Amino acid sequence: MLKVGIIGWRGMVGSVLIQRMHEENDFESIDAHFFSTSQSGGKVRILNSQESTLLDAFDADELTKMDILLSCQGGDYTKRILHSLREKNWSGHWVDAASTLRMNSDAMIVLDPINKEAIDTAIARGNKNWVGGNCTVSLMLLAIHGLIKKDLVEWVSSMTYQAASGAGAQNMKELLIQMGELSGSLNNIKPDSSILDLDKEVQLMMKSERFTKKLFTAPLAGSLIPWIDEELENGQSREEWKGGVETNKILKSNGYKAFNVDGLCVRIGAMRSHSQALTIKLNKDFPIKEIEELIASANPWVHFVPNNKEKSIKNLSPAAVSGKLSISVGRVRKLNVGENLLSVFTVGDQLLWGAAEPVRRMLNILTNKKL
Ligand code: HSE
Repeated sequence: MLKVGIIGWRGMVGSVLIQRMHEENDFESIDAHFFSTSQSGGKVRILNSQESTLLDAFDADELTKMDILLSCQGGDYTKRILHSLREKNWSGHWVDAASTLRMNSDAMIVLDPINKEAIDTAIARGNKNWVGGNCTVSLMLLAIHGLIKKDLVEWVSSMTYQAASGAGAQNMKELLIQMGELSGSLNNIKPDSSILDLDKEVQLMMKSERFTKKLFTAPLAGSLIPWIDEELENGQSREEWKGGVETNKILKSNGYKAFNVDGLCVRIGAMRSHSQALTIKLNKDFPIKEIEELIASANPWVHFVPNNKEKSIKNLSPAAVSGKLSISVGRVRKLNVGENLLSVFTVGDQLLWGAAEPVRRMLNILTNKKL
């Protein structure tokens, strides 16, 4: 059995990864070891069969004993550790959920339903660095997989509605605290007060110094934040930039024709599922019925939602999708503002296919476990 070291198993993505590995019995086909940046020597019960002693995540001697290292510890850890392991001639596989390595020429962005052939070729060629893609990118590519296979896409504009989980576990907590503070601001208001009185109290709370916004720096509950990640000189946010470059890298790796992706990335007060409103320029006229069929049948995870009010409200929201591997795809119709323009609305769990699942499946590819 291959020795697999897991780092960052306690965090947001790591916890979901461990949960999924249990669900799929992945631990039965690996010799798993757990590393910690702060509690080496401690005992944890992650495996059903036995307690594990935590190994030091900064101990290169322990790390280099592993055939595969899987990190959900974040980009700073990757930057600090990987280079030094390679300098010690460690030739194991590094599987990472963080973005740090994604655009490096010696790292492959993994999304196996889209680029399994390229992954297999890269393994045969001796590639060792594997990275899960940005969550909106992976979710978007799986959602429109059917159009990609048929080479129908000229460009995509993606307007996102991203959940708090994308910013981390503490940010999810801050969102909940904000929600609590907003509703708490109404405690002294009489139940029969007018909506304007209620709204005034909520606005006062949102604008007050007391309102908790340490991480988001602005109200998210009852509001939104139209910027995610760093500011780039060209006016894009880094999240928006990733949408284009990562999509292209994944598509090209597998021989698909690349297309441009751009749009605005917006944080909203959802917990863990990202939504995206896509405008897709098709490169030719195509009947809507066939487009629907292509999207619906592209892979086992697309949950196609017919474009009607009842089914869209019921199935096409973070509340409906969170915790599921399926990615809802709906509101598919031709837009009336130009030729061959298609609208698609898609929602997927940012922690599953958006983060943990591509790296979990990459681990299984490396250990030859059936996907
Ligand atoms: N960058 C994403 C976000 C999550 O902030 O929502 C990770 O892909």
